[in-house]
Amino acid sequence: MITAKGLEGVIVDDSAICKIDGNAGRLIYRGYDIYDLTSSLSFEEVAYLLWNGNLPNEAQLKEFSNQLIHQRAIPKTLTTALRNLPASSNALDVLRTSISLLGTEAPLKKPDMQDAIAISAKVPTINAAFDRIRNGHEPIDPRDDLNHASNYLYMLTGKIAEPVKADALNKYLILLADHGMNSSTFTARIVASTWSDAYSAMVAAICALKGPLHGGAPGPVLKMLQDIGRPDRAEEWIRNELKSDRRLMGFGHRVYRTTDPRAQILKQIAEKSADKDLVELAKKVEETGVRVLQEYRPQRKLYANVEFYSAVVMHSVGLSPDLFTATFAASRSVGWTANILEQATNNRLIRPQIAYTGPLDRKVVPINAR
Ligand code: ACO
Repeated sequence: MITAKGLEGVIVDDSAICKIDGNAGRLIYRGYDIYDLTSSLSFEEVAYLLWNGNLPNEAQLKEFSNQLIHQRAIPKTLTTALRNLPASSNALDVLRTSISLLGTEAPLKKPDMQDAIAISAKVPTINAAFDRIRNGHEPIDPRDDLNHASNYLYMLTGKIAEPVKADALNKYLILLADHGMNSSTFTARIVASTWSDAYSAMVAAICALKGPLHGGAPGPVLKMLQDIGRPDRAEEWIRNELKSDRRLMGFGHRVYRTTDPRAQILKQIAEKSADKDLVELAKKVEETGVRVLQEYRPQRKLYANVEFYSAVVMHSVGLSPDLFTATFAASRSVGWTANILEQATNNRLIRPQIAYTGPLDRKVVPINAR
């Protein structure tokens, strides 16, 4: 039997949502290049695009934005649950638990657009409410006069964010919203393929996002930059890491064999929104990491991935490292639900096989003879 370790190169289905050209370094949502989508659009417009297939006109955007705003508030039962969780809880674990709690009131039914809107609208509210509570503050209600990105920052701080910060987060949310058959999206589609509900598929996706080989990398990236501390220390630190057989967080990708376009755009965003010294350090670490990885793994073509500059951008807008992956989920919830809806609309149970390599024909002996 032919096996594809890690399912590398395996095409599991058709999709009209997102295309990645790993050799050219291109990312396309529904036919639009990610460079164009991040140049001037709002996250709301891109969410509409991912869910509906086309960009909204003005009337459609207004109605859609109102639907999202209307769904931002979380039930009191959930806020009470957030108050009862240990303040030391990981924010992504809290988000997973919260979506699961919301799911207890949802019926087992085929996922639909209302589920997609309700879940995606609430993720920033959950993240912000928990962050406030664990820091000894009261949660802040969402505002209906702010867009998705600005409202998220407002619910975290109680202040209207500077335009450069709100714009940085808006672009970040667009860039991370979908990315083909990544591990968490595939997980969501597997769950949806069993005729399970949208909340269950979302919980499963969040579980898959958590690991540092996927969405758990940006916190460790920021720690790496802080540990390195100065550009002239990058080379020694990186070589020591690779000599110790550890992976460089924020480098490498299963699909890209060239620069990840999201990393390039995030670098430009960081140049506008982040502390100059941190950006200079990050650029030096990127350049050194790519060069040294090329020496260590010449066949593999390893570049900075999306998480590398995501860490710098999220830090620049004031998010604590523990909120990085939960904020990634705030963006990717749109891509997950777009994929859940696509899977549910054109479903076949996802059920691959595995090549058995264990023994055969063993005889059971009584317990006292083993
Ligand atoms: N640092 C050091 N070596 C690396 C790195 C890295 N960042 N990435 C890959 N390699 C090496 C591996 O050790 C392996 O070497 P080997 O063949 O000598 O054993 C080779 O490159 C291939 O690695 P795989 O794990 O097979 O590559 P894969 O495509 O499965 O991995 C992944 C992709 C998981 C992202 C990997 O590059 C990695 O571990 N990166 C660091 C973690 C990270 O940045 N995660 C965020 C990813 S972006 C996202 O999911 C949103």
